[in-house]
Amino acid sequence: MIIAVDGPAGSGKSTVSKEVAKRLGITFLDSGALYRTCAYIKIKYQVSGKELIDFVTLSKMFFGKDGELFLTINDNTEEVSKKIRTPQIAEEVPKVASDKDIRALVTEKLREMSETESVIMDGRDIGTHVFPDADYKFFLKASSKERAKRRMRDYEDQGITMSLEALIKEIDERDKIDSEREHAPLKKADDAIEIDTTHLTIEEVISIITARTN
Ligand code: DC
Repeated sequence: MIIAVDGPAGSGKSTVSKEVAKRLGITFLDSGALYRTCAYIKIKYQVSGKELIDFVTLSKMFFGKDGELFLTINDNTEEVSKKIRTPQIAEEVPKVASDKDIRALVTEKLREMSETESVIMDGRDIGTHVFPDADYKFFLKASSKERAKRRMRDYEDQGITMSLEALIKEIDERDKIDSEREHAPLKKADDAIEIDTTHLTIEEVISIITARTN
C-alpha cells in the first residue's frame, strides 16, 4: 500500500504521516529529507552542476529504524538527520530540488525504498509524479502565518531563533519556488483529498487520514 501526502512546508505533513505510519504499522518516508541531503552534499563537498549530480548518483541514502537518515559517500557513512534541518539547508534546498536530474535521482531512490513494503510518503510531488497510482492521496495546506509559527517552534527546539516575519518570508519564497518550478512543481493531484490544517489539531488530521485508509 502506498499513501501519498503532499503539501507546502509546515502544513503538518511529516508530523501527521509519522504518526499515521505508527498506527497503521507501515513505514514513513520523508522525501524532503532526501532533497535536503542533496543540498547538504552540495554545501559539504562544495560541488554543483554535473559534479553534484555525480556525488548524488554515487551516494546511498537510507532511513534507520527510528527514522534517522544516513548518507554514505565513498565508504563514509554519517547520520544527517539533524544536519539537514538548518536555516542554511532550508535556503539552499529549493534550488537543488528544482534541478531535473536531481529530481530523477531522488525519485528513483524513493521508489526503490518503497518496493518491498507499505509506506506513507510525504513531499510535494508524491501523488503527481513519484506514485501517480498511489492507493491514497492527501494534500495538506495551511496559512503561511500558521506554517511559519510551526517552523519557529521546530527551530526553537533546536536552539535556533528566527523572527516570525523572517519565517513567513522564507516560507512564502519557498512556496513560490516549489510551485513555480518547471519540473514536478508543488501541486495537488486531481484525485487527492485536500485537508486545510490551519485550525485543526494534529490528532484531527490523523483521524481524517486513518478513517479514509483503514
Ligand atoms: O518538506 P521539506 O521542507 O523537508 O522539503 C525540503 C525541500 O524539498 C522543499 O524545498 C521542497 C523540496 N521537495 C520537493 O521538491 N519534492 C518533494 N517530494 C519533497 C520536497
